[in-house]
Amino acid sequence: MRWSIPELTAAAAALATVGTLAWGLVRPAAPDAALAAPPAPLSAQARAGHTLWQSKGCSACHSLDGSGGRPGPTLQGVVARRGAGWVRTFLVDPQAVSTPSGMMPAYPFSAEDAQALVAYLAQPAGAGPGG
Ligand code: HEC
Repeated sequence: MRWSIPELTAAAAALATVGTLAWGLVRPAAPDAALAAPPAPLSAQARAGHTLWQSKGCSACHSLDGSGGRPGPTLQGVVARRGAGWVRTFLVDPQAVSTPSGMMPAYPFSAEDAQALVAYLAQPAGAGPGG
């Protein structure tokens, strides 16, 4: 049989429609908006803790969020492991909660400084600036 021009045009249009629908089915899903969102910013208190962390050189001996040193234990998850109260007390008066080796300097932290460091150390991995 011979196809007339209008019939061919209609057939081509039908094929194009099927193609568009099929593409719609296989097209990769849009990236998850939650995954693309930047990490939540640190609270003001945690930022103050981060400033102390850097200015006191904690990362010379402790790792956090994958960066930092030895001989201190990693402080990743220390607040969940020890409890906020334990860490706060340790920073102000280490003897009250442990038997320090003397390797870690005795910092005269105020209660406010200790709380800021606890807030910083309690941040989940990847939440803010690393060690
Ligand atoms: C000169 C090395 C050194 C520096 C600097 C240092 N630490 Fe430590 N830290 C240690 C060592 C070693 C320990 C293990 C306990 C001990 O030996 O007394 C420790 C233990 C700790 C612990 C208890 C961990 C646990 O689960 O037992 C915390 C919390 C801590 N340090 C926080 C800090 C913070 C915050 C800073 C910065 C203000 C800091 N440290 C600076 C060496 C250091």
